[in-house]
Amino acid sequence: MSLTLKPLENFHSRSGPVLLVIMDGIGLGKPSEGNAVYKAKTPVLDELFKMPLYTELQAHGTAVGLPSDDDMGNSEVGHNALGAGRVFSQGAKRVNEAIADGSIFQTEVWKSLVRRCTEGKGTFHFIGLLSDGNVHSHIDHLIALLRHAAKEGVKRARIHTLLDGRDVPEKSALIYIDKLEGVLKELKAQGFDYRIASGGGRMVTTMDRYFADWNIVKRGWDAHVLGKGRMFSSAREAVETYYAEDPKITDQYLPSFVVAENGKPVGTIEDGDSVVLFNFRGDRAIEISMAFEYKDFDKFDRERYPEVMFAGMMQYDGDLKLPSNFLVQPPVITRTVSEYMCAAGIKSFAISETQKFGHVTYFWNGNRSGYIDEKLETYIEIPSDKIQFDKAPAMKANEITEKTIELLRTGEYKFGRLNFANGDMVGHTGVMEAAIEAVETVDRCVGQLLDEVKKMNGIVVVTADHGNADEMFTEKNGKREVKTAHTLNKVPFIIVDYGYQNEYHIRSLPKAGLSNVAATLLNLLGYKKPEDYDPSLIEF
Ligand code: 3PG
Ligand code: CO
Repeated sequence: MSLTLKPLENFHSRSGPVLLVIMDGIGLGKPSEGNAVYKAKTPVLDELFKMPLYTELQAHGTAVGLPSDDDMGNSEVGHNALGAGRVFSQGAKRVNEAIADGSIFQTEVWKSLVRRCTEGKGTFHFIGLLSDGNVHSHIDHLIALLRHAAKEGVKRARIHTLLDGRDVPEKSALIYIDKLEGVLKELKAQGFDYRIASGGGRMVTTMDRYFADWNIVKRGWDAHVLGKGRMFSSAREAVETYYAEDPKITDQYLPSFVVAENGKPVGTIEDGDSVVLFNFRGDRAIEISMAFEYKDFDKFDRERYPEVMFAGMMQYDGDLKLPSNFLVQPPVITRTVSEYMCAAGIKSFAISETQKFGHVTYFWNGNRSGYIDEKLETYIEIPSDKIQFDKAPAMKANEITEKTIELLRTGEYKFGRLNFANGDMVGHTGVMEAAIEAVETVDRCVGQLLDEVKKMNGIVVVTADHGNADEMFTEKNGKREVKTAHTLNKVPFIIVDYGYQNEYHIRSLPKAGLSNVAATLLNLLGYKKPEDYDPSLIEF
């Protein structure tokens, strides 16, 4: 299909730019004490929510390609849908299907991994996030792989468990550890030597993203591969000890641990072994994949680089082709809106801070990390702090705003997109007061951007990729339970068009969602949508 955009017949864009503002993690929850978006003082958003060009979008479940409408939204599927203008079956769904129909076990990759452990002397290692959050991984996928490995005669497996508390309740690690240990016990009774060998909280072990802090990955490498870390007799003992030592600590921040017997780690990674990273989502899987895959690697000292076969649940980066071995074909996201814009010669920029930089570039461009056309695009990353974000809820929103204004003032760009991380990253800490401050910061920054674009006779589109800060705790039987995860709520969508003369209005679509935004942006830039893009949210 060609990438040519046809101009709209009766509508030309404004003289100024079109700016898309993604307020990460700011959804529309019920007015309640636990809703930081509701509790925050947000004079700017309050006005926006009353505007005529306002609607609400689905940002979770099947509307973004997830298996069911019980699945909360997340930034990967959200930005994929925003940037591609269509819904693709996402990782969670694709892995479910590949396991259900058995095709995952028919792949050459799976067969080779197994062979090294049946015909060869290898141990089969599984590394990944141990929860049913279904954002990066699902424990049921791990269990299916383990059972199948046993069925195919793999005698020895080791599991390296990253503890969640971010997509699931903040202190739920033991539920998943016990569930996994139950399966391992069953397999043990059948003569299989399958054990948990190491692990740690996901925010401090292995699962860094966008090169924010390689120390996190090093800690994981040390624990999983080298067997270096604080030693315990079991994963349960590690978690219980860490909880007792610091009653305030939550799963995502639990230090790394190594399971050992008589002072010896039970499952280091050695020459001849097979390793599967069972996370399906890419952002937090890329760095550890590099550490396993790249012979030349200088991000930290690996000390030892074992000869293993490494495979991802998916290929995590389509540009880098990383990793080269993977079990399930990722969604092939083609003809993203940025490809159309580049083909039409539209100059654009994308900006965020480190924690969300890849969201507006890599996820937006269909999980590809490079530029589409470097001559037409500018990508700006403002370095994020390396701290827990409840300690600094403003994060880098002010810096992003300043830099965006600078970019807009050059007059060079017709389109810009940015992500404010605050509602999400602070929302994930579960700290209410900090989340309120995060939302208030975003509100102020959106106000500054509106003032600027107004002077330029441009258009600002404000939306979010999914909810988070809109539900900071839930109440059960009068007891509050902190909620760090995303929500199932809809997100706002507002067009602030400073040249508006009633040429169009919001179209009523029965299931308006994030995938309708790309066509809308193209309309606002003066173009028709590509035929197979989901409908625009406006009607002329
Ligand atoms: C994370 O990776 O931080 C969470 O699992 C999901 O958050 P995101 O989808 O907003 O990035
Ligand atoms: Co999030």
